[in-house]
Amino acid sequence: MNVSVVGSGYVGTTIAACFADLGHDVRAIDIDKDVVAALNRGEAPIHEPGLGDVLEAQAGDRLQATTDYEAVRGTDLTVLALPTPTDAEGRIDLSVMEAGAERLGEALAAKEGEHLVVVKSTVIPGTTGEAIGPILEARSETDLGEGIEIAINPEFLREGTAVPDFLEPGKIVFGTRRESRDERTTDEAGPTHEERSSRGLALDRLYEVYEPLLSNEGVPVVETGLREAEMIKYANNAFLAAKVSLINELGNICKVYGVDAYEVAEAIGLDDRIGAKFLRSGVGWGGSCFPKDVAALIAAARDRGYEPELLDAAVGVNDRQPERLLELLDEHVECENERIAVLGLAFKPGTDDVRNSRAIPVIEGLQARGAVVVAYDPVATDSMCEHFPDIEYVDSAAAALEGASGTVVVTDWDEFEALDTEFDAMSEPVVVDGRRVVSRREGLVYEGLTW
Ligand code: UDX
Repeated sequence: MNVSVVGSGYVGTTIAACFADLGHDVRAIDIDKDVVAALNRGEAPIHEPGLGDVLEAQAGDRLQATTDYEAVRGTDLTVLALPTPTDAEGRIDLSVMEAGAERLGEALAAKEGEHLVVVKSTVIPGTTGEAIGPILEARSETDLGEGIEIAINPEFLREGTAVPDFLEPGKIVFGTRRESRDERTTDEAGPTHEERSSRGLALDRLYEVYEPLLSNEGVPVVETGLREAEMIKYANNAFLAAKVSLINELGNICKVYGVDAYEVAEAIGLDDRIGAKFLRSGVGWGGSCFPKDVAALIAAARDRGYEPELLDAAVGVNDRQPERLLELLDEHVECENERIAVLGLAFKPGTDDVRNSRAIPVIEGLQARGAVVVAYDPVATDSMCEHFPDIEYVDSAAAALEGASGTVVVTDWDEFEALDTEFDAMSEPVVVDGRRVVSRREGLVYEGLTW
């Protein structure tokens, strides 16, 4: 198929590269000239394992990037992968999406033939049908169902494993307008649609673009309405975020009773109603999705008069975990003017993304205590420099530990597991581990956050 992807952030770039890898001809559209140039050189504008290889293989071949929205005219469907950040009140900010939909609609006004617009970004229920759809109709001067159609196909890929997650999804969700389905008979659609099933343009093209993935192994496909698909994404992320906050709360209780939360988690995870995944308690969740999506869902619920108490509590527990980590440090070290090592800056391993990383409140808390912060991360130092230009960054964990009176572990990078004699270079061997990567050992004053 000919596919266009609007927006070349983490999600858009991964999708564009992977669709090209699956054999489609892809046009990636972004307003940022530097991003477009990088993609055309076959370089990933972000740190994502495996993405560079796919881009290198596909750039200039099945993948071409441009700043020009007119490129959508030569394609069968457009994926809208633009950011949906939250505003100061936590509400979803649709301005980038709406501006993109306007330009897309204008470009489609001059397109011959049918076109499907697929919303990939995370949006509050009702947005695709009631905000994006009408913009497309107005700007393209075409009614939905009369040549353009709209759908939502939420993305569940994780940073750090984005490429394999895309290529081996746990599920694929197709949200379409209910009235767009089963409406086409061969008679109405005319001979060019004879081969089309009665699913309608949206589902037809969605199945076609995902066909290479669906033919692999039984990936479950969920066909649902627009609002349901929009909500599935929020529910997925809210559930996982709340699951981590619940294990963190249980972990905090474990800690005060001298119980190892990881032993507890291993046992409860055997209950298949609970499941073993996402039970790693520690300093909490961050990233671009969980904080933004939980905040947007809370704001959207409150806008309609519903008090989301459990989600509020999930955020509250998450906000408190970094301070709990530092309180454990306080039990062993008077931080003022002392050198304190922060191991890990990324919001999780495998990425250079520091958005909402728990390292941010940890560093702020250390600065509030007057500590001299020395930080190390294998890939996220540059990103964190923008938040904290004045702390010391070093290029190895060993260098961070050298002369430190205390260490806090914030990201579960594998390499921290191998640290051993490096701790001997600390002036006081105090380690407060927020991710359970360092093991207790002789000579180390070791505190696990929930164990
Ligand atoms: C998440 C969702 O998993 C993904 O489906 C969605 O598309 C985007 O949001 P991502 O933000 O990449 O993906 O990270 P994820 O691996 O889900 O981790 C989120 C945060 O939770 C990280 O900060 C991680 O450290 C934390 N986490 C995760 C825990 O603290 N404990 C766990 O057991 C699991």
